[in-house]
Amino acid sequence: MSQSRRIVITGFMGAGKTTLARELARVLACDAIDLDEFITAREGRSPRELIDREGEAAFRAIESRALGDVLVTKAARVVALGGGAWTIERNRAAVKAEPDCFTVWLDAPFELCWERIAVPAGDDGERPLARERGSARALYDERRTLYGLADARVEVGAGDDVRVVAECVLMLAKDDGGPWGGKS
Ligand code: S3P
Repeated sequence: MSQSRRIVITGFMGAGKTTLARELARVLACDAIDLDEFITAREGRSPRELIDREGEAAFRAIESRALGDVLVTKAARVVALGGGAWTIERNRAAVKAEPDCFTVWLDAPFELCWERIAVPAGDDGERPLARERGSARALYDERRTLYGLADARVEVGAGDDVRVVAECVLMLAKDDGGPWGGKS
């Protein structure tokens, strides 16, 4: 871990952050952490349950603590954030305070995200902040400026192969400096 850098992935719900994190971990032969899964394991409740039962503010506090721990303990070389984590200023500051972190915005069109987010009528789904198309769209638009504060942006479309997307992220990370690729 000592000579390696870390990749932190942000982007809207349904952009494919978790899939990309897994692919990057495979290529780099390293661990990946999905912050939502980390929270679920630690709290015994998923982000959906936390938001629905405790409210978004309580969830954000839990999320910030979890992110802080993941960053400080250097628990993994690839970290997929939940879609709202990067939009919180204290979380961006925490990531930026780690000089070895390279942040990438996985930028997928709203229609693609919505296709993955949308659930059948009568089902509340796993994403309480995107239960309705109109409000999900508004959140998507509102957050773009903040996602743009990541070190790099990678545009992805419906037919894109995650292996190609991962290669692209690694190229960008390399351009950003520091040692990349292979096991560390
Ligand atoms: C959220 C995104 C979710 C999860 C929670 C809140 C958000 O993660 O953290 O429901 O505010 O965008 P995914 O982006 O993995 O769906």
